[in-house]
Amino acid sequence: MSSKDKMLITGGHPLVGEITVSGGKNTAVAVIPAALLCNAPCTIENLPDIEDVYALIDILRLLGAKVEYVPERYMRIDASGVTGYQVPYSLTRRLRASYYLLGALLGRAGKAEVAYPGGCDFCSRPIDQHLKGFAALGAEIDDRRGVVHAKTDGRLKGNDVFFDVVTVGGTINVMLAAVRAKGNTVIYNAAKEPHIVDLANFLNSMGANVKGAGTDVIRIRGVEELHGCNYAVIPDQIETGTLMIAAAATRGDVTIRGCIPTHMEALTAKLLEMGVRVTENDDSIRVRPQGVQRAVNVKTRVYPGFPTDLQQPMTALLCMAQGVSTVCETVFEQRFKHLDELRRMGAKIKLMDRTVLIEGVNELYGAPVTVTDLRAGAALIVAGLMAKGVTEIYETSYIDRGYVRIEEKLRKLGAEIRREPI
Ligand code: UD1
Repeated sequence: MSSKDKMLITGGHPLVGEITVSGGKNTAVAVIPAALLCNAPCTIENLPDIEDVYALIDILRLLGAKVEYVPERYMRIDASGVTGYQVPYSLTRRLRASYYLLGALLGRAGKAEVAYPGGCDFCSRPIDQHLKGFAALGAEIDDRRGVVHAKTDGRLKGNDVFFDVVTVGGTINVMLAAVRAKGNTVIYNAAKEPHIVDLANFLNSMGANVKGAGTDVIRIRGVEELHGCNYAVIPDQIETGTLMIAAAATRGDVTIRGCIPTHMEALTAKLLEMGVRVTENDDSIRVRPQGVQRAVNVKTRVYPGFPTDLQQPMTALLCMAQGVSTVCETVFEQRFKHLDELRRMGAKIKLMDRTVLIEGVNELYGAPVTVTDLRAGAALIVAGLMAKGVTEIYETSYIDRGYVRIEEKLRKLGAEIRREPI
């Protein structure tokens, strides 16, 4: 990546006020390709206005879909004219979740040729389980020169799919492929993340028959056709968590509106354990300080455990907690590229295998740092908000992949943060 601007943060200002979260990125990138499964218009609301969404619009248009997008309002997708089934690397390199085109096109047309995805490459991210799932449904898979070729004669056939690892992407991709397959599919060891439930709700509102999403066994009765629908995606769990962490980091008083507090329980529990005050209402969370913030031990897990996507911003927060914290990453073993950058800002951190040992310091200081992936960017923003002096953040386009105008939201809460062309 090569960003055109840098972000400048002068730390030390407590965040205070109210903020509304945007729609979920991880839901958006699944629901938009899912609209390819029917030949009638689907209208989707509450989409986050982020780069991943623009990349998907370009992909859908290339395939022949009509897409009307009014940011912050709605996207209308009419896939009735779709004849394409090939997605080149020039497009898939723009987002990790482009692999959902495989499931969606296979489900729609029984064939797909999609180049391996790009996106955040914080470590190796295989898709063998996705391909194994497609093969179980009767697709022939051929994987050459960086492109996955998947095809079947006629319709896919429902089957049992057992995942060896709990995979969010694999679960979603097999759901996409299976909803129009002939017969029943049962996904065992399925992921349970909130956006899997959201995708199931979207598919069901198109006439699919998906049961059990949110548990580790998902049952899908294939239907021949789906119809159009209107749907609003759920709020972004990770943006909510990032704002909660930023509020705690600046010892501010922030109410986050339009979120789903039950999706945040693992983080809320950790913040309470640190000594941060967190109170919940039906669709809002308030985060306030309460004296000393204590060190805690965090281990990332699949949902409902502590999300790996909040591991990096949480690590930044713990850099100034009193005592020694540990953060153990069990989902993506190498998701630690942010640590060197935090060290530049004065963090005392050691990496042992897949566990970060953090000795809390009294002060972080601003420094020039570079973003290496989306959530590393969130970690550096959190550190910049806490640090003394000015933090210069380079490669901001990673941040724009997943956060909607994050600097505007933080500025509204009192942060001193701006962008400058490089
Ligand atoms: C999704 C999220 C991402 C989040 C991650 C874990 C989206 C678009 N992205 O990514 O933000 O960090 O879940 O919550 O929703 N694995 C395999 N083989 C596979 C697939 C996965 O070995 O075929 C392994 C991965 O290397 C990883 C683990 O399974 O160790 C979980 O990965 P997965 O849940 O698939 O993550 P993504 O869907 O890529």
